Amino acid sequence: MMLIPNTLPDAGLPLDTGDAAAFGADAAQAAAALFALTHAHGDTHAHGDAATPLTALPALAAGLGLHSLHVKDEGGRHGLGSFKALGGAHAVIRLVLAEAARRLGRPVTAADLDTVAVRAIAGTMTVSCATDGNHGRSVAAGARLVGARSVVFLHRGVSEVRAAAIREQGARIVVVDGDYDDSLAEAGRVAAAEGWINVSDMALPGDEQIPTLVMQGYTVMAAEILRQMPQPPSHLFIQAGVGGVAGALAAHMTAVLGDSRPQVVVVEPDRAPCLFDSARAGHRLRLDRHRPTVMAMLECREPSVVAWRILARLAAGFMTVADDEAMAAVDRLARPLGGDPAIPAGESGAAGLAGLLQAVSDPAGRAALALDDRARVLVIATEGANDPQNRHRLAVTAAPR
Ligand SMILES: Cc1ncc(COP(=O)(O)O)c(C=O)c1O
Repeated sequence: MMLIPNTLPDAGLPLDTGDAAAFGADAAQAAAALFALTHAHGDTHAHGDAATPLTALPALAAGLGLHSLHVKDEGGRHGLGSFKALGGAHAVIRLVLAEAARRLGRPVTAADLDTVAVRAIAGTMTVSCATDGNHGRSVAAGARLVGARSVVFLHRGVSEVRAAAIREQGARIVVVDGDYDDSLAEAGRVAAAEGWINVSDMALPGDEQIPTLVMQGYTVMAAEILRQMPQPPSHLFIQAGVGGVAGALAAHMTAVLGDSRPQVVVVEPDRAPCLFDSARAGHRLRLDRHRPTVMAMLECREPSVVAWRILARLAAGFMTVADDEAMAAVDRLARPLGGDPAIPAGESGAAGLAGLLQAVSDPAGRAALALDDRARVLVIATEGANDPQNRHRLAVTAAPR
C-alpha cells in the first residue's frame, strides 16, 4: 500500500463551473429520469430504475475504530453486474436522442424512443467502444434498448465470461492484441473509418463530450447514495481505472454538499497506478506499461482528462493497493464480521474497501485522513462477483513458464 496526499497545484481549487453543472443535482435528476422512462418501455433491464442497496457494516466499522461504514452495492445495477450500467447506456441513449432530434428537426425525448421514426433512426446507428468488460456490457445494453447496433472491442486479457455477458446484450465482439489501451486505440480507429459513434469512457484532450455523458450516468448512483445515507459521508474511498467514477462522485458530492463534501481518496492497483503516478509527478501522465492485476477492471494507463481536472482539485489523496489486499477485501465482504451482512464483490469491486483497510492500518494515513471514531466512511462495491475464475486465471497467467 502507498498513500500520498494531494499536493497538486490545483488541490483545493473550487470545482470548475462547467463540471459543477455537468455532474450536479440537475444532471443526476435528468439521467435518473431518462433511465426511468427507457426502462418503463424497454425489455432488457428487468430491474428497471430501482436504486441499488446501501448497506451499513457496523461490526467492521467498530473493528476499524470508525463511526460508521456504508457500502453501496452495485452488483445488481440494472441486471448488468456493475455501476457501469449507468454510464455507457446513458451516453448511448442520449446520443441516439440527439441524432434523432437532428434528423427530425424537432426536440426528441426518451418518451419518443419507442416511436417508429426514432427507432428507424436508431436502427441506422452503430455505437462502439473498448472495454475491460463492464463498460462494453453497458454500451451494448443501451444500444439494444434503443434498437441500435453495437460493436465492442476487447483485448486478449478479457475473460470469456465477461465477453459472453457483452455478447448476450447483442454486441458484435472484436478481439484486439495487446492491452486495454490498445483496444481503445483500435476502437477509435475503426469507428472513425466506419462512421460509428465511439462511446469512450476515457476523455482525451479536446474529446470530452461523450466521456462526460458516460460520467453523467454515474451521478445517478451519487444522488442515490446521498438520499440513502443517514448523514453524508465524511470519507469516500473510491477505486479508479481512468478515474471516471471517482471524478463523477467527487464532482456531484461537491456540487451538492459544498464544504461538507467528503474527503475523497482515489484507490488504484499498484500494478496500474495511472492517477497515483500522475499525482506524484505533478501532472497527468501516461504509464509506459502496467502489469496484469487481479483488479482487471482497473487496468488503465492514462487518466481521463475530465476525471483528472476534477480529482486534481478535489481528491484528498491517492493510494495504491496490492492484489492480495484486494483479495482480502473481497473475502472480508463475503465473510463479514459479527452480524454484518455479506456482499458478493469482485476484486475490482472491493478495491475501495481494500484502500480503507490499508489506510486505517497505517498510523500516518489514519492520522492524516482523520479516520477516527467520527469518520462516516463510504465505499462502493462497484461490481458483483461477475468473474468467479478471476483470481485463478491471473495465478495461471503469472506462473513461470
Ligand atoms: C467494477 C469497476 N470498478 C471500477 C471501475 C473504474 O471506473 P473508471 O474507469 O471510471 O475509473 C471500473 C471500470 O471499468 C469497473 O468496471
